[in-house]
Amino acid sequence: MLDINETKNLTEEEKQLYYIGLSKKIIEEKERELGRKLTACVTTFGCQMNARDSEKLSGILREIGYEIIEDEKADFVVFNTCTVRENANTKVYGRLGILNSYKKKNSSMKIALCGCMMQEKDEVEKVKKSYRFVDMVFGTHNLFKFGELFYQMISEDARVIEVLEASDEIVENLPLERKFPFKSGVNISFGCNNFCTYCIVPYVRGREKSRNPKDIIKEIENLVKDGVIEVMLLGQNVNSYGKTLEPKVSFAELLRDIEKIEGLKRIRFMTSHPKDLSDDLIDVMASSDKISKHLHLPLQSGSTAILKKMNRVYTKEDYLALVDRIKAKTPEVSLTTDIIVGFPGETEEDFLETMDVVSKVQYDSAFTFIYSKRTGTPAASFDNQVPEDVVKDRFDRLLALVQETSRKQVSRFEGQVMEALVEEVNSQDESLVSARLLNNVIVHFPGTKDDIGKLVKVKLTKCMGFYYYGEAIS
Ligand code: 5AD
Ligand code: SF4
Repeated sequence: MLDINETKNLTEEEKQLYYIGLSKKIIEEKERELGRKLTACVTTFGCQMNARDSEKLSGILREIGYEIIEDEKADFVVFNTCTVRENANTKVYGRLGILNSYKKKNSSMKIALCGCMMQEKDEVEKVKKSYRFVDMVFGTHNLFKFGELFYQMISEDARVIEVLEASDEIVENLPLERKFPFKSGVNISFGCNNFCTYCIVPYVRGREKSRNPKDIIKEIENLVKDGVIEVMLLGQNVNSYGKTLEPKVSFAELLRDIEKIEGLKRIRFMTSHPKDLSDDLIDVMASSDKISKHLHLPLQSGSTAILKKMNRVYTKEDYLALVDRIKAKTPEVSLTTDIIVGFPGETEEDFLETMDVVSKVQYDSAFTFIYSKRTGTPAASFDNQVPEDVVKDRFDRLLALVQETSRKQVSRFEGQVMEALVEEVNSQDESLVSARLLNNVIVHFPGTKDDIGKLVKVKLTKCMGFYYYGEAIS
């Protein structure tokens, strides 16, 4: 049983470390019983925020004593779920069925579900009733309590389900396992206050909370000491970073401080909401040689009328003017975007406005989504849902245009020499390595695994549509 008295004077961080320690003893015991090391696998669905959360879960599991593997036949499997579109949920249930078949063959197997989908009451009810083989459920607000919940599950051999509606807590300094030694995501804020009418994120991730700049800087300094040269600053809307802090700090100011960290070579960030992107940020980006010349700037729709119904708080003209301001200061910028097709009430004219923006902006790439109705969001009850065949037709036309423009955009660097960060040996051709340019484009060139994690000057010899072949310049 949990002894409340032993933890009552501890900070949340100390308390979690305490439970991780207790869990470790139980896992050591189990290892002795089984005569082998126990394994764990954390599978991420969805966005970079979830990927970062999964690193936190893996870090805690490693600390508890598990060997982390990428095989869902492991002794402990965590599904870190996404719910942004309906098909994300469908995918999770499909994969859970497979996990159940593994569990029937491994009696010591435990299964946990967490992440955005678990913040939806109906989904948790469904799991409780129809997926009884799931041992543990928690949400986005109590991820930091994973060690404690794990201990509860393992020590009492009980099913543990705990989902909080909200939390103001940001718990720093828990264990963390990074997927790449040379680059890392860094959360700068959590949650979202924008309530775009189609989007479930503010309901499942809660209100926006910014991390203290000192904690962010300290984390990055430690990462750099540990060999990291590139960070990806993560927030649902990085441009509104710091608005709720006392004293207020802007995202541009935070970037300026991060830039000063010695040894840090590259800084990326996402996602930028167009309504909050300041001229100060455009200037910082233009003047820095550490900050990525890539902006992910979700458009969602090119129609002012639809943008209003989406509650995006900018017009088509505002968006285009913003893009002009960015390109004026950083002509080589790579712009990428998200677009939703088939939002309720979208007419052919509205759709053509979206096509028009895509033609004008010339994105390097665009993620295109078919509108998905999310229960509880305002748009779910809007009239004039667009018929499926109309949406499909628009989606195909948009995709064709996006592919054409991105091919052209990406190829504009052909023949140039650029610095690229080597990420891995090419999975199809072992004589090549794959590296990422500052504008986020991938280049493959001859190299070995010793190049991984290095910044290399590469001549972009041949554009292959969305990526390059190149050669290292010594
Ligand atoms: N339907 C379709 N796409 C959506 N997105 C968010 N909510 C929905 C939805 N209900 C898209 C937006 C967002 C991206 C992460 O997912 O384009 O920028
Ligand atoms: Fe969703 Fe809009 Fe917030 Fe992005 S800004 S997470 S689309 S509500």
